[in-house]
Amino acid sequence: MARILILYSTTDGHTIEICKRIRERLDTHGHAVELADLKDDPKLQDFEFDKIVIGASIRYGKHQPLVNDFIAKNQAVLEAHPNALFSVNVVARKPEKNTPETNPYLQKFLKKIDWQPQNLAVFAGKIDYPSLGFFDKQMIRLIMWITKGPTDPTLTVEFTDWDTVDEFGDTVARM
Ligand SMILES: Cc1cc2nc3c(=O)[nH]c(=O)nc-3n(C[C@H](O)[C@H](O)[C@H](O)COP(=O)(O)O)c2cc1C
Repeated sequence: MARILILYSTTDGHTIEICKRIRERLDTHGHAVELADLKDDPKLQDFEFDKIVIGASIRYGKHQPLVNDFIAKNQAVLEAHPNALFSVNVVARKPEKNTPETNPYLQKFLKKIDWQPQNLAVFAGKIDYPSLGFFDKQMIRLIMWITKGPTDPTLTVEFTDWDTVDEFGDTVARM
């Protein structure tokens, strides 16, 4: 049994749902998983873990800056353990942008950080129009209109392919 720490950055909570699904998958492999929110400024020395995963969502083109800060501060510890990184964004709903190699946000992010994660994944996220404030709702509708996605403000659309998330869970189990 391995102890796996999953650190996440989320704005609206969908990344936590993905982390929970990864945890369920790792449970089936007999591993113990702990989740922690990067917003709470977790200190790695407070955790006991064998492997480490970071998951973060995109908002207006970027992961939250605290993700970059955490990686920069903890790179040596990350590199000392089997490790993985995943990004959540809606551009990944497009088949030509849904792999670590083809997702522009993940590629841009990797160029900005010095850490080279051993395993990478990208997952399509969720658009929950009714939960968004006026400005965000109109901005997302505009982005969706430009990129030929759903624009109906009454819709909640989950693009996440949960099989891909499960496969990533298997990768983390093996790494
Ligand atoms: C205000 C807002 C801005 C967003 N900006 C982007 C973006 O620039 N590119 C993208 O691919 N997805 C974007 N998304 C989609 C989010 O990445 C997606 O909703 C994801 O599921 C959010 O995860 P979270 O709930 O864990 O924060 C945006 C979503 C919102 C609500």
